[in-house]
Parts: sequence; structure tokens; C-alpha cells
Amino acid sequence: MTIAQKLSFDVQLSDHARTAAEREQVLANPGWGQVFTDHMVSIDFTEGKGWHDARLEAYGPLVLDPATAVFHYAQELFEGLKAYRQANGSIVMFRPYANATRFNRSAQRMAMPELPEETFVESLDLLVNTDKEWVPTAEGHSLYLRPFMIATQPALGVNYPSKTYRYMVIASPAASYFTGGIKPVSVWLSTEYTRAAPGGTGFAKCGGNYAAAFVAQRQAVENGCDQVVWLDAHEHRYVEEMGGMNLFFVIGGKLVTPALTGTLLPGITRDSILELAGDLGLETEERLVSVEEWQAGCESGELTEVFACGTAAVVTPVGTVKGADRSWTIGDGTPGPITMRVREELVGIQYGARPDTHNWVHKIA
Ligand code: PLP
Ligand code: COI
Repeated sequence: MTIAQKLSFDVQLSDHARTAAEREQVLANPGWGQVFTDHMVSIDFTEGKGWHDARLEAYGPLVLDPATAVFHYAQELFEGLKAYRQANGSIVMFRPYANATRFNRSAQRMAMPELPEETFVESLDLLVNTDKEWVPTAEGHSLYLRPFMIATQPALGVNYPSKTYRYMVIASPAASYFTGGIKPVSVWLSTEYTRAAPGGTGFAKCGGNYAAAFVAQRQAVENGCDQVVWLDAHEHRYVEEMGGMNLFFVIGGKLVTPALTGTLLPGITRDSILELAGDLGLETEERLVSVEEWQAGCESGELTEVFACGTAAVVTPVGTVKGADRSWTIGDGTPGPITMRVREELVGIQYGARPDTHNWVHKIA
């Protein structure tokens, strides 16, 4: 249900914002997703009334009744995007309307209210503008933005979804998601666990998908790998995606990515790379890719590179693959030339070193 109404944000600046020196200390070594800026945005929703009480206020804890629906039934969803400080000093976001659209697709699946796309983007603009000193200047760093929505009705019944919700945005200065530079990651093929099945929530960015993934990610680490790769639920044969990233394969010089079957998250980075490939003169294909094709292609030399992509991960090469009964290396295990070219182009647009010919960059300040 989209409720077309123009909201105005009440702005109450923090009376305990960090000093410039405190902020600089954080920005010198921000890590990933551990430190948050001085403010946050909230908007409440009540069935019959729509969205109301839009506000920007000091970042701080929430007080919620223990019976609040989100704690029990995980009626929750989120988004992830970044604000970048460009070479010329501008602060921009990358394709925020694409996140707004996906947010509302997730909302439909989770029986939650949709937020007007303009309000979604406006809430991000407001938070980033208020906390713009928190947008890092260091190369490859950014301000990670986390819009999310929770069901807030204190009631345990499951006959009807919550009648009240809260949308919020928080922001966190971020270094690279993977430490150690552009180092190829090792991946674990999960055959014991499944991320998503047809008719489920795989295409939605809801917290439950991630809660159910931790056990497999832990298994990947126990097997000496960095990340879990999800396979289809039915046969555990077709490659779907990684922990928080989509996958691309370079097969016979073509960029091949698993088709969006409904069980994968439709990544905005994935979509952008499919478009950029045309600019780079690369052919693309969206189709099923099986584990056998992956392994045989590496053995024959037809499949030369694999990379993961996402907002957090940007473009990260995959070096080695391991499963319960097999393991192999992709190419010579080092980042491939097409991976690095795609990465350079994407990052170039985000940080302003390349022209934004697709109109993806949304200027904030
Ligand atoms: N797949 C999953 C499961 C994710 O969590 C993400 C991260 O958002 C992605 C793929 C990549 O999506 P995007 O490129 O929109 O960040
Ligand atoms: C992102 O790339 O924005 C993600 O959401 C990945 C993540 C869950 C860390």
C-alpha cells in the first residue's frame, strides 16, 4: 500500500555530537559497520493513518515493548547503500532510487507498508547532509547507509501482520568490507544448508534470510573459507549467490551471472555491471550456472575468472572453491583482468573519476 503524502521532517540536532577530533579518530580507522554517526532518521507508520512523525534526531537506543512483533516473527527488512566523497569534493549516493524500489518490493513480500520512493531518498539526503563530515575522504572508504523497517506492534498473534511499523536510517563510516586489499576470497559450496527456496523470501532483503545464513557462513570459516556460496534448494547444483553478494563468471570471455529466479537478491551492483559490460564491449548472459560447469570450465581453461559484487563488497575476486568432496582454483588464483577492469569502471563512477553516463550518481552536497 503506497500512501502518497508529503512528509516534512522535524529536525532536532544532537546535543552530544562527537567533536571534530573524536570524529577524525574514528575516520582514521572506521572498520565496517561498528561506529555510527551522530544522527538517525525515523518515520512511523500506523494502519489507517499512514506514515507520520518523520524526524531526524540524535543517534541512540530504542525503547520497545518486549512483545514487539519484530522480536518474535522477524517482520523486518533493510537496504544498504553508500555515500561517497568524490574527487571534486561532492558527496553523492549511487542509484538510491534502485534501493527505494527494492525496499518496496521487499515490503510487499513481508506484508509491510511501502514507503514513497521520494521519501526514502529524502530521508537519506537529510541524514547524509546533516552528518556530511562523517563521509570519509580516504580512498575506498565511504559512509554506509542502512535504511530499515521493523514491525512495532506489541502483540504475539500471527493471524494478521503488525498494524504499526517504524522506518529508520542509520549511517556508518566504512573502510573495505574485506580487509587486506583486493585479495581473492575463498568460497565454500554449501550443500547442507539452503538460503532460499521458490516462493520464499530470497529476492527480498529481509533480516531472516541473513539469520538463517550464519550457520553456513560459520561452516565456511570452519572449512578454511572466507564466504559461503549458496546453491539452489532443489538439487544443490546451480550457483545462486554468496553471503551478501552476487556472482559473475567469465566464461569464454563473456560475463555470465546466475539468472534472477526469485531466490536470489537482485543486486544493484549486479544490475549496474550488466549495463557497464556493454560500455566495456563485453557480452553478458543471465542463465543457470552449475557447479559442474564451474569446475569443468576452470579445468579446461574456458572459465577464467569469478568475482563477487555488492554494495559492501564492491567487486571482489574469487580465487578458490571448496565443497564437501572437491576443491579447485580459478585461473591462477589471482585477480583477473576483466574483474579488475569492471571494478575500476564501477568505482570510477562512484568516486567521480569516470563520467556518469548512465545518470546513476545522485548528488547530495
Ligand atoms: N546478495 C545478497 C544476499 C546481499 O545481501 C547483497 C547486498 O546487498 C547483494 C547480493 C548485493 O546487492 P547490492 O549490489 O544491491 O548491494
Ligand atoms: C550490502 O552490501 O549492502 C549488504 O547488505 C551486505 C551485507 C548484509 C553486509
